[in-house]
Amino acid sequence: MPFNRSWAQQASALVLIMSRTTFAAPGVTEEKPALWHTFDTGSAWGHLALQASISGWHTHGMAGFDQDLARQELKVPEGYVLHAMVAIGKLGDKASLDEALQAREAPTPRKPLSELAAEGDFSL
Ligand SMILES: Cc1cc2nc3c(=O)[nH]c(=O)nc-3n(C[C@H](O)[C@H](O)[C@H](O)COP(=O)(O)O)c2cc1C
Repeated sequence: MPFNRSWAQQASALVLIMSRTTFAAPGVTEEKPALWHTFDTGSAWGHLALQASISGWHTHGMAGFDQDLARQELKVPEGYVLHAMVAIGKLGDKASLDEALQAREAPTPRKPLSELAAEGDFSL
């Protein structure tokens, strides 16, 4: 998307995060639905981000990209879900960004854990 292109085009790499919706167990040829493919892939992306940070790189996930164009250009076969694009790179000079983007270069607040996790069912 144009907004993301304005900064992401400077990244060292753009990585498309996708998952295969079926799997074949070892030694089996029959494919079965991989009901947990989103869980696995979210976990993989999270660890990619952590490892990148440990290794001195930075990552930024984006949903704002053209899914159809990405499928077409990368010749993605049927049976894969596209989740997000991740820009990986080194921190650049903030001054190279326009004013609006410069204003976003600040730590973002975090919600308290009590807003993200709960005990019991939804009626509580
Ligand atoms: C579902 C989702 C989609 C996002 N899409 C974009 C995007 O298209 N472009 C972008 O610059 N940031 C996008 N973001 C925001 C960044 O990935 C990131 O969350 C934000 O920069 C704040 O990061 P921080 O809280 O680690 O500082 C998206 C975030 C989420 C959760």
